[in-house]
Amino acid sequence: MSQSLQNRNVVLGVTGGIAAYKSADLVRRLRDAGAEVRVVMTPAACEFVTPLTFQAVSGNPVHTSLLDEQAEAAMGHIELARWADVVLVAPATADFLAKLAQGRADDLLSTLCLATRAPLLVAPAMNSVMWENRATQDNVALLVRRGVRMLGPGVGDQACAETGYGRMLEPLELVEEVSRGFGPRVLDGVTVMITAGPTREHLDPVRFISNRSSGQMGYAMAAAARTAGADVLLVSGPVRLAVPEGVEYESVESAVEMHDAVMARIADVDIFIGVAAVADYRPVRPKPRKIKKDEARLDVSLERNPDILRDVASRPNGPFTVGFAAETHDLEANALDKLQRKRLDMIAANLVARGGLQDAVGFDASENALEVFWPGGQLSLERGPKTILAKQLVELIARQYRGQHPVRPRAVS
Ligand code: C5P
Repeated sequence: MSQSLQNRNVVLGVTGGIAAYKSADLVRRLRDAGAEVRVVMTPAACEFVTPLTFQAVSGNPVHTSLLDEQAEAAMGHIELARWADVVLVAPATADFLAKLAQGRADDLLSTLCLATRAPLLVAPAMNSVMWENRATQDNVALLVRRGVRMLGPGVGDQACAETGYGRMLEPLELVEEVSRGFGPRVLDGVTVMITAGPTREHLDPVRFISNRSSGQMGYAMAAAARTAGADVLLVSGPVRLAVPEGVEYESVESAVEMHDAVMARIADVDIFIGVAAVADYRPVRPKPRKIKKDEARLDVSLERNPDILRDVASRPNGPFTVGFAAETHDLEANALDKLQRKRLDMIAANLVARGGLQDAVGFDASENALEVFWPGGQLSLERGPKTILAKQLVELIARQYRGQHPVRPRAVS
């Protein structure tokens, strides 16, 4: 089975029709195709199949009510609506189509359909006379005009002993239809490792040397790479940010720990992006006990940390390597020097001077502006939210990476 839905988030809405029994198999087929599936059931659907069945086949808790505090605390309906790359309602009853056409939001599934920006696909299943009814047909026409994709219904024998249009499409046909809506993504099948955040270099058990990095840019890069189809491993220093959905995460504290975590997995990585603000030095002898203020003067001796980025870039057959450079002056000269010296494939540089315009960008800010350089090229990414810049940068990285590693057409046997 092809992994046509690899890393895709599918919200499957199940409404109360007899075809709901087939939706359990549909969940399995979607997962076989690589999708992550979360099931939302209407109360009527729970009369046909139990939530437990869907929990078992999806591997995730099932959402049944808008007012379930526990479920909302774990993943609220708005979060679920954002999480979805696609919402598929299968089976969709005549009643549900009517509700959707009216834009109602009186239960979890209808609310979610209103609250999502993801494409909405519905697989109607009902008695053929109900399907042909003018009211249903008007609702369907309205929904199609609004951009809802109708999958089926198919024609044939029905559970209610009618023959005609009204059968839900078979699970495999539905998977095929869902996959068709997605074109290939720029980083499908690519493994990306990203370092993010600051490191902490301990002086004693309670004190450390660190920097102002908030981790926002690295986390935004991880989310953007994941959305672009990559398998992402995020190695992060201490930050106060939620790990993006679907991203594998390893938490570290010091530069040496970050170096070890990176090197342990680097052999399987296609693209390495060093966003972390790694401390260049660490105390030579961190004290095992809290340092007391006995002396008038305290000298701390520091030694160099390993340069993670340089070590990754210098590996034979190493990954495509991207560095970041936070500079207070001579941005271009410093960035180009780093690109060559560390033998990088690309470098994204930004100014971090305090005061004036620059105060609001760069470190510990939600906005940034980047100058990107690679051997033989350069591009300015204008000031904007880090999430937008990350998306643009990931596209640029993918383009350069694909230039070196074109996707081979699949062999035909
Ligand atoms: O040389 P400089 O520290 O300015 O280079 C910044 C780039 O190098 C960033 O991509 C940062 O993540 C990486 N770096 C590293 N290990 C270090 C220092 C910097 O990976 N010890």
